[in-house]
Amino acid sequence: MSTTSFTFTERDVSEFFDETTQTYLSFWDSEGVLHTGYFADDADADYHAAADRTSDLLATEAGVDAGSTVLDVGCGCGNFLLRLAGQTGCRGEGLDLSIERIRFAQAKCAERGTPGIAFRHGSATALPYSPGSFSHVVSQDALFLVPDKPRSHAEMYRVLAPGGILAITDFLQPTTGIGEAARRHVYDRVRWSSGYSLDGYAEALTGAGFEVLVARNLDTHIRQTYRVLGETARQRAASADDPAAREWILGFAASCGEIQAAIDRGEFGWGMFVARKPAAQ
Ligand SMILES: C[S@@+](CC[C@H](N)C(=O)[O-])C[C@H]1O[C@@H](n2cnc3c(N)ncnc32)[C@H](O)[C@@H]1O
Repeated sequence: MSTTSFTFTERDVSEFFDETTQTYLSFWDSEGVLHTGYFADDADADYHAAADRTSDLLATEAGVDAGSTVLDVGCGCGNFLLRLAGQTGCRGEGLDLSIERIRFAQAKCAERGTPGIAFRHGSATALPYSPGSFSHVVSQDALFLVPDKPRSHAEMYRVLAPGGILAITDFLQPTTGIGEAARRHVYDRVRWSSGYSLDGYAEALTGAGFEVLVARNLDTHIRQTYRVLGETARQRAASADDPAAREWILGFAASCGEIQAAIDRGEFGWGMFVARKPAAQ
């Protein structure tokens, strides 16, 4: 499985997320929670509860507590870190390639007055922190978008303290054989060049020096996420004032069916990984 791909550049990715932030907020979640949900069962259609469940599961797996210093890479609108800080009292920083999303996160943080939390514009491939700055690095559904994944792994390893924990959810590319429909509706749609299979991901983290503690396939949850969101998008499109936004949301709704089909064909997936930077000898 390829690990370094430059079909889309970081600039392509940042432009896409800057240009679509307001549209995503208008139909997905006005608070900016824009990641995959962990659903209770097949009948569960409550996206917001499922999205919060993903965050809480990842926080538990990571073992974040009041003494933790946490970096959220690809933090988007900042909700995961703000939730973590509210629940545990941890300190930390969120970093994202999209200036629009960082502005949203900064405004929300200022409004809440959460102590010890800040948000910064930047890339996973050039983390603006000293070695060993964090006890935890977390990330939800963001690292798949990085064209040079080995470089982002090396950066996350560098900024973690010895014994520190990396805890992430991420999109998976289970196979190299991606058909035309999946390429268009899953990958190109969000400027995603290529990813890892579940095993390939664990191998890549091991290659970067991490001890992999958890590598869990969660495909059923991402399928349910797009089933629920497709329905929501169809409903919201009807009330979108801006014709361009309406067209984009309808396009997204149509893609949701194709995304589920891609999951069924094994061309798209979702996983959770927890890994440790070995303690200093
Ligand atoms: C699907 S969104 C998830 C956002 C957030 N984690 C959440 O749960 O709502 C993916 C995010 O990854 C960010 N991203 C993509 N490439 C990045 C990079 N190289 N460095 C930092 N952030 C990146 C995007 O700007 C976007 O905000």
